Amino acid sequence: MKKIIAVDGPAGAGKSTVSKIVAARLGYTYIDTGAMYRAVALKCNAQCVMRNAQWTEEFVAEVVQDIEIKLDTSEKVFLDGREVTKEIRTPEVSRGASDVAKFGVVRKKLTELQREMAVQGSVIMDGRDIGTQVLPNADLKIFLTASVEERARRRFEELKEKNFAADFEQIKKEISLRDKQDSEREIAPLAKAEDAVLLDSTSLTIEQVVTEILRLAR
Ligand code: DC
Repeated sequence: MKKIIAVDGPAGAGKSTVSKIVAARLGYTYIDTGAMYRAVALKCNAQCVMRNAQWTEEFVAEVVQDIEIKLDTSEKVFLDGREVTKEIRTPEVSRGASDVAKFGVVRKKLTELQREMAVQGSVIMDGRDIGTQVLPNADLKIFLTASVEERARRRFEELKEKNFAADFEQIKKEISLRDKQDSEREIAPLAKAEDAVLLDSTSLTIEQVVTEILRLAR
């Protein structure tokens, strides 16, 4: 059985949905690294307003210096001791997370934390650079993708289900922008590791993707 599983891919490909199910079936710990970048963005946003500052690398470095991010086993996210699980899911924080993710100082800090979290094994970690940078020795690497249209459609349906206002074209635009930013940044861009298995979920159900990952894990 593969003990460390890395799942990378673009926004909205279904990484967290399938990783959570795989973790539950294998009795593994699920680690959502995107939530950590989101927590950094939330803190930067708050500090920015308070101090009327710009998001320079210097400013962000100061903000993350003593940041405390905790993910608990029920997928709650804590930032400096305060629960922020819901707050980090807004479109503003999504954009902010992609913005702070380009800074080396942020990536270094979060990569260290993520490696510490994976040290015990029996983990499935999802993100953008897990197979390439954070856990290059992972036992199984998955690169999960889907077309932009399909990823936007899923996000649109999810928002509609929660009774949130949603504009399909706007969602598609935001996803494309994040794809571009995440894959074109200089440090640890979104990329498929050479030894990762490519899974295109455009026309697959969640269960089909889960079954394939479980098969590969075994
Ligand atoms: O997976 P997510 O949508 O919650 O991630 C939010 C942003 O965080 C994403 O646009 C890029 C960044 N990120 C990253 O750079 N590296 C990771 N390992 C995870 C997320």
